[in-house]
Amino acid sequence: MSAAPLTVALLGGGTVGAQVARLLLEQSADLEARVGAPLQLVGVAVRDAARAREGIPAQLITDDAVALVARGSDIVVEVMGGIEPARTLILQAMSAGSSVITANKALLAADGGTLYRAAEEAGVDLYFEASVAGAIPLLRPLRESLAGDRVLKVLGIVNGTTNFILSKMDEEGADYADVLAQAQALGYAEADPTADVGGLDAAAKAAILAELAFHTRVTFDDVSCEGITEVTSADVDAARDMGFVIKLLAVAERTEDGAGVIVRVHPAMVPRDHPLASVRDAFNAVFVEAEAAGEMMFYGRGAGGAPTASAILGDLVAAARNRVSGGRGPGESTYAELTVRPITEAKTRYYVNLDVADRPGVLAAIAQAFADNGVSIQVVRQDGHGADAGLVVRTHLATDGALSRTIEELRRLDAVKEVLGVMRVEGEAGA
Ligand code: NAP
Ligand code: HSE
Repeated sequence: MSAAPLTVALLGGGTVGAQVARLLLEQSADLEARVGAPLQLVGVAVRDAARAREGIPAQLITDDAVALVARGSDIVVEVMGGIEPARTLILQAMSAGSSVITANKALLAADGGTLYRAAEEAGVDLYFEASVAGAIPLLRPLRESLAGDRVLKVLGIVNGTTNFILSKMDEEGADYADVLAQAQALGYAEADPTADVGGLDAAAKAAILAELAFHTRVTFDDVSCEGITEVTSADVDAARDMGFVIKLLAVAERTEDGAGVIVRVHPAMVPRDHPLASVRDAFNAVFVEAEAAGEMMFYGRGAGGAPTASAILGDLVAAARNRVSGGRGPGESTYAELTVRPITEAKTRYYVNLDVADRPGVLAAIAQAFADNGVSIQVVRQDGHGADAGLVVRTHLATDGALSRTIEELRRLDAVKEVLGVMRVEGEAGA
């Protein structure tokens, strides 16, 4: 026999919220059976209450989010986005005794600590599976399944919009602006798409992943972030010619001494035979490397209303079951207190594309600049002659700091007319 109904309030009825409402209403019988109590949607807060929302009964729509939260529902789902008023509403919901489910990576990465503390004080749950990698079950494995292991590295594609854009540029030679508009129409992009293309959305997700993986407080400001706005069709073509594809990657890794963590987001060239190279469109994929478990890959739809709603419904069932049984979900785990180190200490390989003078001794001068900074060259390819002479260098592993110093030195050489492109290379085996 079912327990008394559990009430659910929804803050936001947009791309994600509308799908959460639809699934809650369409699958009510299954959800009741899985939870052991009916889930009753009591209201959906939006900005414009006059606009009809397909699939959401008109009597549930309100533009008074504060009053909806004050009803003290069992569970509040926040899918409005942004820092405020989302943070204040979540804190008010928790003080009113509601468990909270949010997809708001921007807020979690900026001020997750405040949300965790409020949840702890109020004795309620805070779940946020949908905040990273859409539908993919990734945060629960990190928070629960891998809680007994020691994570070494998390690396992946965590932004659907930019992966959609880069895939279309690579496969169809599509124009950047056209593909961004398509991603927006498909509901992948953030309300302000500069968060996607500027790498900020991926950086927020990287902070959330790093905090869970390394049991250390990591915020958005700790993440070194570079987006795809500077990636040109010429870069995409050059990568293809060399057997690579460009992806926007989020990387969080333990430092070699085990006492620190480096978290970074940037475009990188990935070999075409690497599993990440075949992650197309708005799909996401994340590799997790743990000491005992070894390597795991999580793959699936990383953006869009229905996939994101799936992750939210999973959290909703977990929080509702806790209400029925009297249990609690996991709280904050930042006991390890690793030091967040700067990207200058991160080690990767690099691709450097140079426009050079075509005369004897040029190659030697360029090689010397790499050697002076302790950067070992893996491959050099020379193209063209005379005014069209170009040189592409790929390096072995080097620190970001050493590579930056090398580039500064190259820019000072008479032999180098222009540094056309510098990009990190990830996913190649060896040193
Ligand atoms: P969206 O389509 O812009 O929807 C936002 C909703 O919140 C709208 O219904 C809007 O009302 C409402 N809203 C915004 N500010 C409000 C306020 N001050 N008071 C009341 N209602 C307010 O955004 P979305 O794509 O669904 O994303 C929502 C959240 O999910 C964001 O945190 C986003 O980062 C996250 N997320 C999105 C995706 C995705 O693929 N879209 C995936 C994972 C996570 P109106 O409709 O009246 O404007
Ligand atoms: N704008 C985000 C993306 C939504 O494109 O990945 C999913 O978090």
